[in-house]
Amino acid sequence: QDLNRMSLNIIDSITNGIQGSGEYAGGPTQLTHPLLKSIGTYYFEMKGKRIRPTVLLLLARAITSNDCPSEPISESQLKLAQVVEMLHTASLVHDDVIDGADTRREMASVNCAYSNKLAILCGNFLTARTIVLLSTLRNHHVTELVSNIISDLVDGELMQIKSNSTSFESYIRKTYLKTASLFANGCRSIAVLSGADANMTNMATEFGKNLGLAFQIIDDLLDVTGSSESLGKPASVDMSLGLATAPVLFALEEYPDLEVLINRKFSESGDVDIANQLVLKSNAIEKTKSLAIEYCNKSIEFLMKLPQSQSRDLLITLTQSKVIRFD
Ligand code: FPP
Ligand code: MG
Ligand code: MG
Repeated sequence: QDLNRMSLNIIDSITNGIQGSGEYAGGPTQLTHPLLKSIGTYYFEMKGKRIRPTVLLLLARAITSNDCPSEPISESQLKLAQVVEMLHTASLVHDDVIDGADTRREMASVNCAYSNKLAILCGNFLTARTIVLLSTLRNHHVTELVSNIISDLVDGELMQIKSNSTSFESYIRKTYLKTASLFANGCRSIAVLSGADANMTNMATEFGKNLGLAFQIIDDLLDVTGSSESLGKPASVDMSLGLATAPVLFALEEYPDLEVLINRKFSESGDVDIANQLVLKSNAIEKTKSLAIEYCNKSIEFLMKLPQSQSRDLLITLTQSKVIRFD
């Protein structure tokens, strides 16, 4: 509950910061165009699941093996959690343009409610405001880590669009870049801001990386098994976008004929339906779940190396329940 309140405060701080009201660590925004305030705060209206800030704040506590839930998390760690949530949101705004998605967080997507042009500007604006906030940490190491997240996001998205590889190695690399890097470097930054030693810092990074991989693999599974109502965003879109994710890659192991469809990015009529049927007919769903659970367990393995604390145990529970969120 305490964490829920803290993560909601993070969203409020972001909104206040963008609107130039209240206390904003990045300095008051002096925006000329009123649209920036409304599109800049649009995706924060529904608050989102706030998985990333919640994980980062719990990790901050677990690292200092702090059992007292009311003990404050440092100001810089709170800012880092804001930075990560803003960056994630900026990437979603651009992602929805690239994917042509019409809904997000149970609302019309920015590109749909406004336009593609405004959504691109919105993503750029949010990224810029994130960097302003990041700069107030006055921490070059964390600046480097967060900057790497930004280039990884773009690198991963590009790899996704351009690759037609059917290898799991390539899929995992892409998944690291587009999703897990944000978790890994976010967790690493939390450890750096805690003044943790090299061993603890590496453990935090590995925890974030494995958690991020598990999280995206489940996202890819839910694209096949979930409904747009339950997800608050379009479902069954990956193959239509030409993307081969874990479920179809597993199905390929049982049905080699799928390779042709994957290579032509499911572009011919009927391709998506055939591929979907083969995914459902094969053991791909179970195998995808197992793969996600494997990464989830790896991330918990790292947490188990931390001293026992209420925060560490909460983080384990959250990792198991929120990440492995089968429909
Ligand atoms: C969601 O994936 C999208 C990402 C994890 C990252 C996308 C990154 C970019 C578009 C690069 C732009 C980066 C910045 C910093 C502005 P998804 O489409 O698989 O998930 P979804 O089902 O939630 O849409
Ligand atoms: Mg998308
Ligand atoms: Mg996408």
